[in-house]
Amino acid sequence: MSNDTNGSQVKTPMAINDAVDQAKDVILSGGLVAMPTETVYGLAADATNDSAVARIFEAKGRPQFNPLIIHVSGAEMAKAYVEFSPMAEKLEQAFWPGPLTLVLPRREDSPLSLLVSAGLDTVGVRMPDHLIAQTLIKAVERPLAAPSANQSGGISPTRAEDVRQSLDERVDMIIDGGQCTIGVESTIVKVEDDNVTLLRPGGVPREDIGCIIGKQLLNAGDAKIEAPGMMTSHYAPDAVMRLNANSQEEGEVFLGYGKVSGSGEFALNLSQTGDLREAAANLFSHLRALDRMAAAHGLKTIAAARVPMEGLGEAINDRLKRAAAPR
Ligand code: TXA
Ligand code: MG
Repeated sequence: MSNDTNGSQVKTPMAINDAVDQAKDVILSGGLVAMPTETVYGLAADATNDSAVARIFEAKGRPQFNPLIIHVSGAEMAKAYVEFSPMAEKLEQAFWPGPLTLVLPRREDSPLSLLVSAGLDTVGVRMPDHLIAQTLIKAVERPLAAPSANQSGGISPTRAEDVRQSLDERVDMIIDGGQCTIGVESTIVKVEDDNVTLLRPGGVPREDIGCIIGKQLLNAGDAKIEAPGMMTSHYAPDAVMRLNANSQEEGEVFLGYGKVSGSGEFALNLSQTGDLREAAANLFSHLRALDRMAAAHGLKTIAAARVPMEGLGEAINDRLKRAAAPR
């Protein structure tokens, strides 16, 4: 990698400005920057530059039919690229900056690369709640297309180290912003007139959105639309997964939750106190760590305890189910 924050975490205002200055040059010359967000690390490129966006797909090994989310500095920037209905305004005012992606109609005059929306007439937009990501977007003055910074189908990265392991020399620069606080990707909703359809559960719980819009969200299955990237198998560790496990069996490493813990050294717990936020923040890094443990000790299975379905539990269960799906 030519440009890097040298494996050290960027924390002080001066270090952030230096890293953002470098990253801005990389982005404006069509390069790829792995940037921290509050959810997971994103692999960012100038969303208006076709060849830069094409490089994202290439670096991740991502199928071209799977559209990308664009990251903006706020609604004002977003409005140059997508159409905002009153319902979209309401959601943006309640949840931005933060882990909510709005899928909205693409403006006809939108200067976004067509690759971003992969042939759809909509675009996913979000405003990340992270100082480094926001500073970078403001510096380049254009939206950044950014999927999670992992190989397509793999476990999403929540630390700079994870990006290094998964993409390393395919990225021009990695900004190390430490561990992501939320740890699961954004919630994605499609907004059509007054209808809000949940395409992917994520960092904003379904219940919180329901409270703001005063009604239930539609489900992707009912509305017959889906996020094209929601393939059944995703977030896949090398080991096989066993879900809803009550205890750790011979030959397994164990992902515990609350009082259901494994025994011995090959066990981690998402949150001993049963705190779903803590569990979400730990999910991907624990899966990675257990996968490494399993490989190192010839164990074939990651058994995972049951996680309740409420709040962030819906996103956690979605990721566990996809990690366990046949490949
Ligand atoms: O938290 C996040 O959302 C992270 C950070 C980096 O912002 N990004 C992320 O991107 O998770 P990615 O590419 O790994 O997942 C984006 C998902 C894919 O499943 C894609 O199919 C869906 O969003 N998507 C993007 N644009 C869409 C659109 N116009 N319509 C429906 N689904 C869309
Ligand atoms: Mg992803």
